[in-house]
Amino acid sequence: MKNVKKKGKEVKKSGSTSSSVSETKVKYNPFLKTSKKQTEALCGITLHISKGEIFGLLGPNGAGKTTLTKIISTLIIPDKGSVTVNSFDIVKKVKQARASIGLVTGGERSLYWKLTPIENLSFFGRMYYLSKKESVERAKELIEIFDMKEKENELIQNLSTGQKMKIAFARSLMHDPPILLLDEYNRGLDPQASKDLRTYIKKQLQQEQNKTILLCTHDMNVADELSDRVGLIFQGKVVSLETPEKLKSSLEYKSKVTLVTNKPVVKLLTSYQGLNILSTKQANGDFTTIVSLGNGQTGMEVMDYIREQGFFVKNLEVNHASLEDVFLTYTGRTLEDDEIEISIKEVQT
Ligand SMILES: Nc1ncnc2c1ncn2[C@@H]1O[C@H](COP(=O)(O)OP(=O)(O)O)[C@@H](O)[C@H]1O
Ligand SMILES: [Mg+2]
Repeated sequence: MKNVKKKGKEVKKSGSTSSSVSETKVKYNPFLKTSKKQTEALCGITLHISKGEIFGLLGPNGAGKTTLTKIISTLIIPDKGSVTVNSFDIVKKVKQARASIGLVTGGERSLYWKLTPIENLSFFGRMYYLSKKESVERAKELIEIFDMKEKENELIQNLSTGQKMKIAFARSLMHDPPILLLDEYNRGLDPQASKDLRTYIKKQLQQEQNKTILLCTHDMNVADELSDRVGLIFQGKVVSLETPEKLKSSLEYKSKVTLVTNKPVVKLLTSYQGLNILSTKQANGDFTTIVSLGNGQTGMEVMDYIREQGFFVKNLEVNHASLEDVFLTYTGRTLEDDEIEISIKEVQT
C-alpha cells in the first residue's frame, strides 16, 4: 500500500448535504423472502457506531453480515426497524445516505469486467458527480495507493481476485465518503497485500481521515487487529458486543493447548485438575484435543503427564485465547465453514 499524499483540491463530497459524519444507527428486524419460506436473516439488532470508529461484525457464513451491509447501503429495505447513516434515514433520505457511504463487497460484482481499472474508477467517479478531470485524477491517485499502476490499463477480467478486490476497494473511495462498509474486503488478497491494506485502513482511513468503518468478516484476525469494538453475530443476532480485549478477557482461561496424540486422551485429561476440554477431533489416526489451561499451568506440564501415562504426543501447540474461542463459548460453534473433504484421484490417460 503506497502512502500517497492527496494532490490538488479536496474531492467533492458527492452531493452530501453534510460534510461531517455523525453516527450510524441500525435498528431493524428484516426478513428475506424465498420462494418457499421466509428466512429471518436478522432479528432485533441494535447497533450504534460512532464517528471515527472501526466496528467489526464477526460471524460465520450465513450469520447475516451481508444482509446488514446491504440494508445499510440501501440495496435492500428492511421489513421492520430503522437505519440512520450520517444522520440520514436510509429509506427517507436515500440519496444523502448513499452519498455518505463507500461500499466494498467481497463478491467482485462491483466492477465492469470489460473495462480497465482506470476506466472503471473514473466512470464511478462520474456517477458520484465528480468532474471528468477530478475523476481521472482521483482514479490515478487511488491506483497508486493500491499499488496497481502496472495493471491500470488491463481489463478487469484479466486481473486476479485480489487485484480486483483492490480496485473494488479503490472504487469505494472515489467520492471520499465519511463512512465505509467493508464486507469481506480481504477476499483473495495475498498475505502481504492483506497486511498492507490493514495498515492503510487503520493509519490512513481511520487515524488520518477519521472515517467510520463497519467491517464485516469471518476472519477473527482481521476483526481483532482492526476493530475498536467487535459484535459477534450468529443466526441474525448479535450475541456479544465489546472491545476485542474485553471479549477475550471474558473467557475463564487465557491460554489453550492443542494436542495431537496417537490415542484418545479425553478420559485421561478429564481427571487432570484445572484443565478443561474444549474440543476433540479424530482424523487419519490422529486424535486432536484442545484444552484450556488453568492458572499457572503450562503446555509442557500437560505433555509430560500424557507421556508418563504411556501416550505418544505427536504435536503440541500453545495459543492465547482468541476471538474464535469467545465465539465458540457463546455459540457452541467455530467461525469456520463446516469442513469440506476433497479427494483427488490420479486419472489414467
Ligand atoms: N437473497 C436471499 N434470499 C433468501 N435468503 C437469503 C438471501 N440472502 C441471504 N439469505 C439468507 O439470509 C441469511 C444471512 O445471509 P448473509 O447475510 O448473506 O450472511 P453472511 O454474510 O453473514 O454470510 C442466511 O441464512 C442466508 O441463507
Ligand atoms: Mg457475507
